[in-house]
Amino acid sequence: MNRILITGALGQIGTLLCQSLSNDPDNFILATDIRKPIKNTQYDFVQADVLDYKFFVKLVTEHRINTIYHLVSILSANGEHDPFGTWNLNIQSFQNIVRLGKEYKIKRIFWPSSIAVYGKDISPILAPQQTEMNPETIYGITKLAGEKLMNYYKIKYGLDIRSIRLPGVISINAAGGGTTDFAVEMLNCALNKDKYTCYLLPNTRLPMIYIEDAINAIKALMKTNFKNNERIYSYNVMGYSLTPKIWADAIINKGYKLEVDYKPDYRQIIADGWPQTVDDKLANSIWGWAPKYNIEKTLSDILKS
Ligand code: SER
Repeated sequence: MNRILITGALGQIGTLLCQSLSNDPDNFILATDIRKPIKNTQYDFVQADVLDYKFFVKLVTEHRINTIYHLVSILSANGEHDPFGTWNLNIQSFQNIVRLGKEYKIKRIFWPSSIAVYGKDISPILAPQQTEMNPETIYGITKLAGEKLMNYYKIKYGLDIRSIRLPGVISINAAGGGTTDFAVEMLNCALNKDKYTCYLLPNTRLPMIYIEDAINAIKALMKTNFKNNERIYSYNVMGYSLTPKIWADAIINKGYKLEVDYKPDYRQIIADGWPQTVDDKLANSIWGWAPKYNIEKTLSDILKS
């Protein structure tokens, strides 16, 4: 039986990942978040601060946890308001999870990295899996540090930490504080018949993934049997790339009225330092990653409910 602990369970990815994993009768789920859930969940939920190591020791031992999905993170745009706090939360929580992994023999850990690990000096088209990386946000720096630590702890303690570099994730709920949140915000404005003021220029192109594909990628990666001596990567994955203008037009083509004006702010500089597309061939060749959703299918799926 997989006895799974999830941190950041009420976030954009956590909400759906918990639901999806709890549909499998072989999984026991213990969801945690710093916030209280709004409604009752179909799985166990404990309000907990992942910086409280002792409390997590209690949770892991009491519930005999053997797998962790560590999703807690301050994202790129919010991180810029408090670099010290962002480093502390993103890195210290990572360290706590790794320590739990080592001390309590956790067999597998998932932790998401991000396209924010790249910086301006890479080629923005099909950014390579492996290249020089000079992130220019504190968020990107914590993600790059996490990628390095992931490899270090595999060598040092034999820990099995798995990761993908997420692009912007599209779902009906925004991540909160991310640079790619415009896609979700725009969609919600269309649904609520509100006007949208976009903080990026209309032609800013960024890689994206639909939440269903992101969840499938995480689940597929966690199921893969790797050889013991295989190098571990935080794998690039993406569904498609879009600009605010392409996304607005796609929503309008679905029959929605949407008025958008563009007032770029500090997030424009963040987006300009990120790739437009990433090369995800390695994920495809090693664990069969392939997206199922393009822009059209994403919108049809989100708008059907
Ligand atoms: N969606 C994230 C952000 O915008 C990128 O990983 O911060």
